[in-house]
Amino acid sequence: MNETILHMLRDAPGGFVSGEAMCQACGVSRTSIWKHIKDMQDAGYNIEAVRNKGYRLVDAPDLVTAAEIREGLSTTLLGQSIVYRETIDSTNSLAQQLALGGAPEGTLVIADEQTSGRGRRGRQWFSPPHSGIWMSLILRPELPLAHAAQITLVAAVALNQALSRATGVQAGIKWPNDILFNGKKCCGILTEMHAEFDQIHHLVVGIGINVNVAQDEFPAELEGIATSLQAIRGERIPRAQVVRTVLEEFEPLYRQYVLNGGFGTLRDAWKANNITLGRHIVAHTARGDIEGLALDIDEFGVLLLEKADGEREKIYSADITVINQTIS
Ligand code: BTN
Repeated sequence: MNETILHMLRDAPGGFVSGEAMCQACGVSRTSIWKHIKDMQDAGYNIEAVRNKGYRLVDAPDLVTAAEIREGLSTTLLGQSIVYRETIDSTNSLAQQLALGGAPEGTLVIADEQTSGRGRRGRQWFSPPHSGIWMSLILRPELPLAHAAQITLVAAVALNQALSRATGVQAGIKWPNDILFNGKKCCGILTEMHAEFDQIHHLVVGIGINVNVAQDEFPAELEGIATSLQAIRGERIPRAQVVRTVLEEFEPLYRQYVLNGGFGTLRDAWKANNITLGRHIVAHTARGDIEGLALDIDEFGVLLLEKADGEREKIYSADITVINQTIS
């Protein structure tokens, strides 16, 4: 019901919505409407109540609740079901549980704060309250297992495009899962999978975006390597709008990935959004460090490196360090 009320308040041409109109739309009593208005005020909404006029939304807090995200969302798959928590250990963990319990494809799990946010390779992900987007999507692509990891590259394209469209921030993808601005990380992606033999049961694509984290709020070990959209733009950014844009950018790319059987047709879009190719990098792989020029990415998302001796190496999985920021 809060969603209907919020929608009516946002949509009201003259500003005010009568209590009667809300009663009719929600099919409940005036007392019940008043109780919901009170709940919304407690949650931070500034709602003015005027006798004989009704209610008017003066100001809304920066929340990532289901009601806020659904407001004007134009997707038909991603985010049709939304699970919001004020605090959670990790949205990826909850999404895994929900997926095992049969949650539909496209379910979005989002939290205001994570107490044990996870990054790649067992690292922690700094996820303070009120200032970031900590979200996970449940996907069930009917694709061979070999294509599963490519979803991270697809999500990275969606994320980078969404940042540009929603905030004007022109960042770039560092293969495979980071979005960087001026060499500092503002977003990361953690994909986890539940699969059997050659069948993907579900994927959980976890996305972390540092939105309104002040630069001096990052822990000391992240200060020089992390940044936020607020630090880049010099102003606070409303989070729900960024979430909507991520879902809207991701949906058509995801459909293409499923329809065309993998990353292949999205390779050009990835190249247009990347800041990895053409740079000298060190790939920290399970086989050890490999240094070279990042030459290309293939249709499977594999990175091609040219070493100093001219030999070429395929990098399937690694963390990379860019050692030369200039594109050659
Ligand atoms: C990385 O760059 O190492 C990946 C970071 C992924 C962080 C997100 S925040 C939402 C989701 N839940 C988690 O616990 N992790 C991912």
